[in-house]
Amino acid sequence: MTERRVKSLMTAVILLAGLVLAMPGAAQDKPDDNAIWTAFISWFKSAPLGGDPFAAYAAKLEKEGVPGTEVERRLTTIARLFSTHPEGIESFYDRTYSQPLTGNPARDRLPSAPSSFLVEAAKGLKPGTALDLGTGQGRNAVYLAGQGWEVTGLDISQAGLDAAAENAAKAGVRIQTMKADYNSYDFGAEQWDLIVMDFAWAPVAEPAFVAKIERSLRPGGIVLFEHFVNKPEDRYAPMVRALEPGALKDYFPGLEILSYDEGEGKADWGGPGSRIVRMLARKKSRTPVPLTW
Ligand SMILES: C[S@@+](CC[C@H](N)C(=O)[O-])C[C@H]1O[C@@H](n2cnc3c(N)ncnc32)[C@H](O)[C@@H]1O
Repeated sequence: MTERRVKSLMTAVILLAGLVLAMPGAAQDKPDDNAIWTAFISWFKSAPLGGDPFAAYAAKLEKEGVPGTEVERRLTTIARLFSTHPEGIESFYDRTYSQPLTGNPARDRLPSAPSSFLVEAAKGLKPGTALDLGTGQGRNAVYLAGQGWEVTGLDISQAGLDAAAENAAKAGVRIQTMKADYNSYDFGAEQWDLIVMDFAWAPVAEPAFVAKIERSLRPGGIVLFEHFVNKPEDRYAPMVRALEPGALKDYFPGLEILSYDEGEGKADWGGPGSRIVRMLARKKSRTPVPLTW
C-alpha cells in the first residue's frame, strides 16, 4: 500500500469515529447496569406518583426514541437490579407509600382491601402467630389481626410500616411492625404459625432465604404465597422477582403443598391480565425417631 493510500485510509477511519461520537445519544445507546439504574432512580424521584412506574418509565423512554428492544433490556435490568439494591427498594417504596390511602383504589392506585386469596385461606386456619413479609401498608396484617392473629408486619420501607401502624389503629387492632431487609434478618426458630408473602418480592429462588423461612415456622405452620409469574409474551417483563411457570413447587423442600394454582387474572398489584401463582403449603411435622429395640 502506498503512503498516500495509508494516509487517506487513516483519515477515513478518524472521520468515521468522529461521526459516530458526534451522533446524538451514541454513548448512551447501550448504557451499562449502573447507568440504567441511576437514570431510573433519578427519574422515579421526581415522577408523578400513582399508576405503574415501570410502564410510565417505558413510555418515557419510547417517547425519547429509545427502540423497543432497548426499552425492554433496560426494564428487565431494572427489575433484576432491585434484588441487589435494597436501598433502591426502600426509597422506591418510601416514595410510593408517601401519600396516605383514601380507600378508593381507583384514586390510590394501591390496593387497600386484603387479598381475597388470604381472606379465603384464613377461614380454614386457627389464629396464632403470623409474620407478614413485605407488609407494605399492612392491608393483610390488619385483616389478620382483626381475625384474632398476633401479627408482625415486616418491611424495608419505614413509610409503609408507619402507614400500616396507622391503618391498624384506625381499624382498632394491634400489630407489631419491624423494619428489616429479608436478606439480613433472622426470622427466628419455630416461631410462626403463618408466614404471608403477598406480592412481597420475596427471594424464594434463594435456598438461604427458604431455609430461614422453613426454620422459623412451627411444625404444621403455613406459608401463604401470592406473586407474579413471568409472561414471555409480555412486551416488557418488569415484575420484580416474578417466578418462572411451575418453579415455586420445588422451592420449599421442607413444606408439603396444600394448594397450588397458576392462572390469569387481576392481580391486586398488577391489574388485569396478570399471571399469578398462589400457593398454600405446610411445614412437615418432625419425623419421629424410629425405635431400634
Ligand atoms: C408490592 S408491595 C406488597 C405489599 C403488601 N404485601 C401488599 O400486598 O399490599 C412489596 C413490598 O415488599 C417490600 N420489600 C421488598 N423487598 C424487600 C426486602 N428485601 N426486605 C423487606 N421488605 C421488602 C416493599 O418495601 C413493599 O412494601
